[in-house]
Amino acid sequence: MTDLKNDLYLRTLRGEKVERTPIWVMRQAGRYLPEYRATRKQAGDFLTLCKTPELACEVTLQPIDRFGLDAAILFSDILTIPDAMGLELVLEEGVGPVFNKPIRSAADIDSLGIPDPEQELGYVMNAIRVIRHALDDRVPLIGFTGSPWTLASYMVEGSGSKDFRRIKGLMFESPESAHKLLQIVTDSVIQYLKAQVASGAQSLMVFDTWGGMLSTENYKRFSLSYMSQIVSAIKSDPLCSSVPIVLFTKGGGRWLELMADTGCDGLGLDWTVDIADAKARVGDKVILQGNMDPVVMNTGPEQVSEQAMEVLLGYGNHGPNDKGHIFNLGHGIQPFAHPENMQRLVQTVQANSSQFHT
Ligand code: CP3
Repeated sequence: MTDLKNDLYLRTLRGEKVERTPIWVMRQAGRYLPEYRATRKQAGDFLTLCKTPELACEVTLQPIDRFGLDAAILFSDILTIPDAMGLELVLEEGVGPVFNKPIRSAADIDSLGIPDPEQELGYVMNAIRVIRHALDDRVPLIGFTGSPWTLASYMVEGSGSKDFRRIKGLMFESPESAHKLLQIVTDSVIQYLKAQVASGAQSLMVFDTWGGMLSTENYKRFSLSYMSQIVSAIKSDPLCSSVPIVLFTKGGGRWLELMADTGCDGLGLDWTVDIADAKARVGDKVILQGNMDPVVMNTGPEQVSEQAMEVLLGYGNHGPNDKGHIFNLGHGIQPFAHPENMQRLVQTVQANSSQFHT
């Protein structure tokens, strides 16, 4: 065990009684911060930033230094795994992520191998080690991955998509190929997360950004079952079993009970979920993380305080059977957000949440 100076986030994830609600924010290191834009400029491009551990460390710590958030998240991307599998990720300004070599055939799926986390993805592990050293136990470090379904979506679409016609086409027309792809990605994710923990990640988050695009039955078959394998693999590994794992399916509010049944420690909620309702449904089984609408961060500080209080009040008092709440946005903070609003958000949550923890 380490001697964390601020272990509020980890104590909350362990379901312990805590003195106030911890806060971190998805995409807390990002383009809304001028210091991030300066470091990215110095790196030249986003991928070089991810692949240079000292620079990835610098941007990971920027929001911690500036705002006093209760957790740091590794600066990287979910698309590192497909990049390491040889799909060649490029990220162009205004375009988003694109793969030069997307999956286009059954033969492409057959040729995929599981990347060695300490080789092809060694830069991620090095970044984690450098960040842990620089954090010096001020706050815990969150490691992460994309969900198999979300990663496979990007791999097959070749970029972001509005209708997911290629990946859903594969799912409906060749379910066996889709499952084969998802299994290779799942096996890669499991090794990747275990290596992140071995390198120093103190909690884990699975981003299932596109699971919400599926019907319930297909969500169970093509997204949830693979996330469930990931949770089981982490929980049954002696070196990882004490590391909390949080699942976030954007648009997954319909499936909170199913997600909680995987045995994960927490669920991320997007802003469309009523947090009081989520608490009534699964709040005695899992920690809830979320869920203010990120667009509020592009408005004014009064709106930020108001909406943050609405989320805190929505979760309400932390009773003896409630697992707990971690404040976050319902999705990543946008490049249009005002840095002063982040200051206001952190202050609002840190100064006003103790009343719910009596
Ligand atoms: O949260 C953090 O601060 C840690 C870093 C992080 C990034 N991406 C940095 C990033 C994390 C956890 C991610 C996860 C990620 N990446 C997800 C899942 C979460 C979600 O947002 O749903 C997804 C779907 C991706 C894929 C991805 N990467 C997209 C769609 C984009 C482009 C969209 C955009 O915001 O421009 C990226 C690029 C990216 N990843 C940026 C950052 C800070 C912007 C790159 C830049 O500097 O231009």
